[in-house]
Amino acid sequence: MTTNSTGVLADTAAYAAAVEEAKRAAAAYYTAGESPLDDDAYDRLVRGIAAYEEEHPQEVLDASPTGKVAGGAASGDVPHTAPMLSLDNVFSAEQFVTWTASVERRIGRPVAAWSVEPKLDGLAVAARYRQGRLERLITRGDGAAGEDVSHAIGTVLGLPDRLGEPVTLEVRGEILMTDEQFEQANAVRTEHGAAPFANPRNGAAGTLRAKDRPYRVEMTFFAYGALALEDSGDLAATLAELPHGEVLTYVAGLGVHTAADTDVAPRTVTTAEEVLAGVEDIAARRATLPFGIDGIVIKADLAADQRDAGTGTRAPRWAIAYKLPAVEKVTRLLAVEWNVGRTGIIAPRAVLEPVEIDGSTVGYATLHNPADITRRDLRLGDHVMVYKAGDIIPRIEAPVAHLRTGAERPIEFPEACPQCGSEIDMSEQRWRCTRGRDCRLVASVSYAAGRDQLDIEGLGATRVVQLVDAGLVQDFADLFTLEREQLLSLDRMGETSTDNLLAAIEVARTRPLSRVFCALGVRGTGRSMSRRIARHFASMELIVAADAEALQRVDGIGKEKAAAVVSELTELAPLIGKLVAAGVNMTEPGATPPAEPGTETGDGATGGGAQDALPLTGMTVVVTGAMTGVLEPLSRNQMNELIERAGGKSSSSVSKRTSLLVAGEKAGSKRTKAEELGVRTATPEEFAELVEAHLVTASEA
Ligand code: IVH
Repeated sequence: MTTNSTGVLADTAAYAAAVEEAKRAAAAYYTAGESPLDDDAYDRLVRGIAAYEEEHPQEVLDASPTGKVAGGAASGDVPHTAPMLSLDNVFSAEQFVTWTASVERRIGRPVAAWSVEPKLDGLAVAARYRQGRLERLITRGDGAAGEDVSHAIGTVLGLPDRLGEPVTLEVRGEILMTDEQFEQANAVRTEHGAAPFANPRNGAAGTLRAKDRPYRVEMTFFAYGALALEDSGDLAATLAELPHGEVLTYVAGLGVHTAADTDVAPRTVTTAEEVLAGVEDIAARRATLPFGIDGIVIKADLAADQRDAGTGTRAPRWAIAYKLPAVEKVTRLLAVEWNVGRTGIIAPRAVLEPVEIDGSTVGYATLHNPADITRRDLRLGDHVMVYKAGDIIPRIEAPVAHLRTGAERPIEFPEACPQCGSEIDMSEQRWRCTRGRDCRLVASVSYAAGRDQLDIEGLGATRVVQLVDAGLVQDFADLFTLEREQLLSLDRMGETSTDNLLAAIEVARTRPLSRVFCALGVRGTGRSMSRRIARHFASMELIVAADAEALQRVDGIGKEKAAAVVSELTELAPLIGKLVAAGVNMTEPGATPPAEPGTETGDGATGGGAQDALPLTGMTVVVTGAMTGVLEPLSRNQMNELIERAGGKSSSSVSKRTSLLVAGEKAGSKRTKAEELGVRTATPEEFAELVEAHLVTASEA
């Protein structure tokens, strides 16, 4: 595509290409239920098109998807009684609040009540009932007319042939496949030699249109509205005046299915805060629902408020869709890694073909234990459904078995501890190295020597195993007292490797405190927390002397973590003593010790004074995409170190508290989010200029 990934369109040609791409995607989505773009990407594309059109109103193309139902892709030949509209979208609480203000300005009073309900991820249909009988089923089409899909009557749960009362009305709602119906449909299809559906939405779209299949698969209807038909009689007046919530209760009473019996039942509230609490509640339940939702729909509940707010050509002005990011994606399982934890537990981890989910790139997912892999019959090369939302660790939901080609291979389980080579205790579901915590010696020395800690080149895990096996290293402090002869006595250690390793250890002896502290592997203090602690206290002596209260003055350390750190540091005192004795650096360059409590001024998290002159003081900076120019060789950790050296705080996610986003090549959703929130962005080159004075130190660290 000629648009860049942020959705910003540079010129007429990029705009035209974007319109063309949106048109193709909408056509595929609304006719076959599939799309080359996922929902997030399509929304971004349309937002980019709308933004361009706002700036260049005279250039708007006829084919533009903006302002059209179904992006202008669908059509049909059965006219709708009243237009079947689409919904406008918001993507954040701020946008929602702005939208409510515009509705209230329009009607000249506060909206009396809001209905909050799930946005079901299926296909919109209108079901016409006459005298209580289901007469016709029509798709949304272009909003003015739809396709007759009455042949599907009888296959849709929740859409009864006969209502509880002989009333005449049109029920509108969404037809979808629940997860179970989707599984069932694919089982039946594979039995009949048909290709499986890629996802439930695709299944519902295909099934709704299919006329002459030799088998039947079931779908489910959820009503989200009802309106009178020309011969509805008295019911017309009643329906026109009922609040939305009561319309849903009424149709449910007639026997039509609504979301009322789900964990995300529609609710009526009065304030914007309550709406947002409802949004959060529904979003949090999304993962465990037995059907797909892609957002939350918020509607003015009272008929009078709806009437006064009015309706646009594409969407009503009294309702809005609060879109949720796509959280489930299909990707490939490339490999399984076996990692040994602190206590010797051997845990499998899935290596995935990287996939963007909910704002971050996912390359790994947890697999619980070997039994779990066997139970789910996972194979290497499988397409797998990966789920990730918010801060949760990505997990593999299921293999997409119907996408198998036959080239998939079984996952091999380790026969010996992958860390130290000892036997594995397989008596429990979770496998454990028979050396238990002792096994961690190799792991913890390797960690300490790692790139983001002491960065000792030439000291990989194999070498560490050798050192441990030879009894030369009982902890990583022993590395600093290794002698040349001792190293030479090891297998495959010649003069050159020995001298190189010794030189690398010498460099490690002078690393900044933040890295030495990180090397200790104190639970809950990774790279960024270690840097904050080191900058705050400036010396190991002060860290060790700190009590829980003093530790809590470090940004991000709460009561619980402070207590845990204090107790671990007590355990680690002998190791720290050995490091000091070995002449390892115990101070943080550029940091000044904190003032005594009470005399402290300014931000306690950054230690003492002398910070004000730094270019990023008081700023929270996020880095995304590939760095270029002088920043190209820096790892993410080194970028974060650079930010902190320049007085800023590094963070991994964009929020309204972010002061600056450094957006490199292929920056994706973080840039979009920054743009939405009005967060300043800089190219790697611009950023390098800003922190120029601190660059050298960071790349040498
Ligand atoms: S109300 C006039 N409520 O989302 C109001 N729509 O993106 C129009 N949808 O066309 C629809 N769940 O197909 C409404 N609870 C819900 C919905 C919902 C899903 C669909 C519907 C609509 C589309 C707009």
